Amino acid sequence: MGNLAQEQKWSPAISVNNEVLDREHQGIFEKMNRVAQLNARLPKKMTLLAAFDDLIMFTAHHFKDEEAHMEEIGFPKVESHRASHRRLTEALERHRQEFVSSVYGRFPSSVFDFFKTWVTSHIMIVDKEYAEFERAKRNERSAALSEKAEKPEPK
Ligand SMILES: [Fe+2]
Ligand SMILES: [Fe+2]
Repeated sequence: MGNLAQEQKWSPAISVNNEVLDREHQGIFEKMNRVAQLNARLPKKMTLLAAFDDLIMFTAHHFKDEEAHMEEIGFPKVESHRASHRRLTEALERHRQEFVSSVYGRFPSSVFDFFKTWVTSHIMIVDKEYAEFERAKRNERSAALSEKAEKPEPK
């Protein structure tokens, strides 16, 4: 089962401790695997393109949600994170354009290798940064609260 072995799945090890964003990461993997599976079956070019567009749209939707979340929590590196999202979006558009103008009816497997590697390392390294930032902020807040509680009330 060569194809299945190559499938990339979301796992709790790459959780960003946010239910919505974790679910979206899961969705990106699912949609990417769907395009890869379809690609192997050689469907009509339009069918394959529709699945790829679905992946592009879902990814764009996730980036928007994630950027809004980072703004909301006051994450300081939101601009460089946004730039990283922009680079992937541009790469996906480029692959789409190449597919549309090529005489071949399928994507080269390098497109999937690139996307899988990019998504996995982006979640594990870049996305984890805002999750860590949030965790540190939470810890700070609870430390401040318990310090307050320990202080004796003035008599
Ligand atoms: Fe991200
Ligand atoms: Fe993400």
